[in-house]
Amino acid sequence: MTTFAQVTDALAGRLEAVVGRAHVVTGGPDLEPYARDETEDLRYPPEIAVRPKTAEEVAAVLALTWEADVPVTPRGGGTGLSGGALPGFGGVVLSLDRMDALLEIDEPNLACVVQPGVITKVVHDAVEERGLYYPPDPASYAACTIGGNIAENAGGPHCVKYGLTRDYVLALQASTPNGMLFRTGGKLRKDVAGYDLAQLLVGSEGTLAVVTEATLKLVPLPAHRRLLVAPFEDLDAAARGILAVLQARILPATLEVLGRSALEAAAEHLGRAVPFAASEAAVLLETDGNDARALDDEVERIGGILLEADALDVVLADTPAKERELWEVRRCLGEAVKKKGLHVECDAAVPPASVPALFAAAAEVAREHGVEEISYGHAGDGNVHVNLIATGFDREEGMRRLHAAADVVFRRAVALGGTITGEHGVGCAKRPWLPLCRDEVALEMMRAVKRALDPKGLLNPGKVL
Ligand code: LAC
Ligand code: ZN
Repeated sequence: MTTFAQVTDALAGRLEAVVGRAHVVTGGPDLEPYARDETEDLRYPPEIAVRPKTAEEVAAVLALTWEADVPVTPRGGGTGLSGGALPGFGGVVLSLDRMDALLEIDEPNLACVVQPGVITKVVHDAVEERGLYYPPDPASYAACTIGGNIAENAGGPHCVKYGLTRDYVLALQASTPNGMLFRTGGKLRKDVAGYDLAQLLVGSEGTLAVVTEATLKLVPLPAHRRLLVAPFEDLDAAARGILAVLQARILPATLEVLGRSALEAAAEHLGRAVPFAASEAAVLLETDGNDARALDDEVERIGGILLEADALDVVLADTPAKERELWEVRRCLGEAVKKKGLHVECDAAVPPASVPALFAAAAEVAREHGVEEISYGHAGDGNVHVNLIATGFDREEGMRRLHAAADVVFRRAVALGGTITGEHGVGCAKRPWLPLCRDEVALEMMRAVKRALDPKGLLNPGKVL
């Protein structure tokens, strides 16, 4: 472990020589955005931000910071929810935002090649025009980047059927912390030559290397989709309704649950009425396929299963406008909840059959700690966003309650066979809780990997471990 040095004028000058003076931010209000992401109200200002345009520039920046013992924090879209892009030790923020090219869509090989700073939705739209599909769709997909998604192994509503970002990363080019570029993987479905370094980097939260190019797997775009919404009398019933669908050997493309407090927060945030806002819970279920008739039959069957499982109603969003409206409600929740005040989010995940128990635990913990709770999320794959909100306390007391409550929520999730984060990562925000779900031997193996790949500990220090 190195003692971190500060950014000197000489280093700043060398960084400017690499990326161009216009792409270095040295202070003032322009540096402020690099001090924050979307995680609670955390703020850690860097000394300088640099915005390279090419892989070679990334490598050259890292060679300089390595030589100078200055910490470097890579940054994508800045939408992270665990503080992964925050420069906790100052130093350099390495923003990949200018590396936003979609380099290639390779139709015969069902793959695309992108720079890390490309916005996730740009990839979605571009490949969908060609009848192809890139499923990972974090709620922030219109603002987050593929590089950030790879760093955090991002998920989203469609994970239940299609898997996470890791399932779509075929190959990477990346730079080591001391500025050496390397490639690993290819446009291959099968490649078992040695350790899978691409997958080691996925979810490593920018602590091992900086991704400079990614080759992503694509799948055929399903020709048809149907979106159903079903109100239930409470969250427990909604979660059980979802399990009933899975138990019937049906795997929808999304299986989301929203509690009443989430629906209310969305209505407040959007400034308009939202469907089923008066119900205690709602399930948002999308199903997809290539045969419209078969899909309609499946929708019919799913409707029957949900009603049998005590859904109060099952409604098909029968126009694109209604579909958009429902997805807008679902996707705005992260932002809507943030507006409610001092809050801590627990991105807990449990085996899907334990979701009802997790909802019950979250409500009980919030009650016991005198805080508000807004739970919603990807119930079909077991990943529930338990948001805890403290109002009516001073900041210190509010944070004390929130952390105490979050601690119990995490312990309950782990006791149910779950984890402290299903998709938002550990970052700096959830670091104290990592030992809850990883044993000491596993933690030491992670530390050994970090030491081997970043012996000076300069890359995104203070994250994960
Ligand atoms: C969501 C983000 C918070 O699912 O992961 O809305
Ligand atoms: Zn989510």
